[in-house]
Amino acid sequence: MVVPPSDALLELATRAARRAGDHALQAAGKGLAIETKSSANDFVTQVDQECERLIVDSLLAERPHDGLAGEEGAATPGTTGVTWHIDPIDGTTNYVYGQPGWAVSIAAEVEFPEGHMAVGVVFDPRHDELFTAVHGVGAWCNGEAIAPRSGAQLTSAVIATGFSYDADIRRHQAAVLADVLPAVGNIRRFGSAAVDLCWVGLGRVDAYYETGLNLWDRAAGGLIAAEAGALVHDLHHREPTRRFTFAASPAIHDQLRAVLVAAGADRIEIAE
Ligand code: IPD
Ligand code: CA
Ligand code: CA
Repeated sequence: MVVPPSDALLELATRAARRAGDHALQAAGKGLAIETKSSANDFVTQVDQECERLIVDSLLAERPHDGLAGEEGAATPGTTGVTWHIDPIDGTTNYVYGQPGWAVSIAAEVEFPEGHMAVGVVFDPRHDELFTAVHGVGAWCNGEAIAPRSGAQLTSAVIATGFSYDADIRRHQAAVLADVLPAVGNIRRFGSAAVDLCWVGLGRVDAYYETGLNLWDRAAGGLIAAEAGALVHDLHHREPTRRFTFAASPAIHDQLRAVLVAAGADRIEIAE
């Protein structure tokens, strides 16, 4: 099995993300067919599905034997050692309500020599911001290298978070937030995990945490934040999980981690 060069994967992912993002931007606000999935507040539109189709078609046109894992149903194992993790619109609630804060997210995971995300792309077409990263090389916004904020104190830091669609998980998230809010400068809930992670890498927020993310939500943004220089883990210095994703600038990582651990932020039973 030959691992393809990261440059080629990045170029392909970028093309696919731009194609889907441009389509979503053009279709925004024009007769959306809105349905719900796991709960009454978990929206999906025909544009989410069209974008996933565009992405899958773009990827398979060049790499027909790769694996696929997409939020809107793409699921094939593949035979090349490359699997694409696709969130065609991350931030669908914002998209439905005509708000900014949604993006296309695509990451390529390679199996060799050890399984890892090789490239990640998050495209925010409303702001024409393209975030990219290559494992072990770096992270960029519109081609410029990015880095997390330095020098912040937790008491003035701006922390992004998000809430699950599941009411039981939300009850836990609300209790954790009650402990976090008095300890930090401010909280933001923007509505796209992929963008939140990129913004940690860019220094637009100091940190981000959430329970309940799927791999397609966090795969690309997590790589982008980590390659920018942020620390991206669960609460125990291991890979992020569905139970807990935590990305922070090195400046506040330890302080915020201590608050989250004390709040029992990852003390919740949740299926991976
Ligand atoms: C959601 C967004 C949101 C996060 C949710 C995700 P979707 O993804 O990333 O910010 O809080 O946990 O499910 O449903 O818009 O693709
Ligand atoms: Ca998502
Ligand atoms: Ca989505």
